Amino acid sequence: MAEDLQIHQGSKEEQYISLIPQIQAILEGESDAIANMANVCAALKEQFHFFWVGFYLVKADELVLGPFQGPVACTRIRMGRGVCGTSWKEERVIIVPDVEKFPGHIACSSLSKSEIVLPVFKENKIMGVLDVDSDQYDQFDGVDEKYLQHIIDLL
Ligand code: SME
Repeated sequence: MAEDLQIHQGSKEEQYISLIPQIQAILEGESDAIANMANVCAALKEQFHFFWVGFYLVKADELVLGPFQGPVACTRIRMGRGVCGTSWKEERVIIVPDVEKFPGHIACSSLSKSEIVLPVFKENKIMGVLDVDSDQYDQFDGVDEKYLQHIIDLL
């Protein structure tokens, strides 16, 4: 496996389209979930320079910080709390254009301005969420949802 990521410029969609087969190649043949989640975070961060990209994993009655790239973050999130805890509870994708307007948003960093959180399922059971944060407002839309979902499906 070649570990170097080929970074392509272009529209957001073009960037995802060039990135996804590379992520697929990186994950191929590796069964360790933590290793794969860690490389997904690194690949997304390298391509898009997101402020923060990471997984929170369901452990008992909380989400616990998993593999991520970016500044240090809160380690535990309760069900229904913040964007991640709400995505977990409601088992749905949440796109937040302005985090200050999301009731109960957990500000791990005041620099984070918008985010998208997607639930991660394994065998029909939610096992965590993928959280991607930007330091600019209104950075996420259906394009991110579609391709991030695709990336989660590769895990
Ligand atoms: N903002 C998130 C918490 C996680 S961090 O941003 C890394 C939330 O409200 O769930």
